[in-house]
Amino acid sequence: METRNQEGDAESRAPADAGCSQTHQLTARVAAALSTTILVMGLLLGLMLFAAPQEDQTSEASAEELMERLQRCQKEHRELNLMLLAVTQDSRCRLCPDGWLWRRSRCYFFSVGLQENRRWNESVEFCRQHNSSLAVIKDSAEMDFIQGVMREFPQFPFLWVGLTDAEHEGLWLWGDGTDVQHYMPLAVQWDADHRDCADLRGGGSLFANSCEDYGPWVCKRDS
Ligand SMILES: *[C@@H]1O[C@H](CO)[C@@H](O)[C@H](O)[C@H]1NC(C)=O
Ligand SMILES: *[C@@H]1O[C@H](CO)[C@@H](O)[C@H](O)[C@H]1NC(C)=O
Repeated sequence: METRNQEGDAESRAPADAGCSQTHQLTARVAAALSTTILVMGLLLGLMLFAAPQEDQTSEASAEELMERLQRCQKEHRELNLMLLAVTQDSRCRLCPDGWLWRRSRCYFFSVGLQENRRWNESVEFCRQHNSSLAVIKDSAEMDFIQGVMREFPQFPFLWVGLTDAEHEGLWLWGDGTDVQHYMPLAVQWDADHRDCADLRGGGSLFANSCEDYGPWVCKRDS
């Protein structure tokens, strides 16, 4: 009975939370798109301005006009960036829980703040308890993001990610069931029978490690 009540609560809460986060995600996306468009327009205007041959009075007048428009664009760009920042940082409607980092509709948790190391399976369990999974890295931009965070914590040279060949030796699968090569041309180095869990190191390299080793980890979930 108690379980059912809790589920009821969760359900009645969910739509509001989801709406809030979706609206903000949308606003953030629109703001980002606008901001990019305006920046591109500004750059184009700038190019036109500097490439324009200054032959006569008319072209000088339009050059001034262009400069004005460019400055307006830059101002709008700054304002939109501030708006975007405000939206993503708004504590009343957080995109991610405290201690998680937001990037492109996903939340990431880096355990480096916990001063605690775990086995691979315990890291999986931690992420699961936080409605997330050990990170599956899907493109080079995401890889760069994770590497950037790692560089800020040089005392942790590697992170557990959601990649293992525990089921079939030598067949490395991401947590979503896809092959290690599915998203990016990656390979796991040092593979051996007793090293079935992959850790991520500098330069985006992956190493096979004993799943029993203790280390920091990175979880990922939708925001
Ligand atoms: C992780 O694996 C160890 C041994 O390999 C086991 O003792 C432990 O119960 C496992 N923990 C979880 C959370 O699965
Ligand atoms: C995980 O999701 C469930 C159901 O949506 C929710 O009740 C629970 O609070 C969430 N846990 C965390 C740590 O976010």
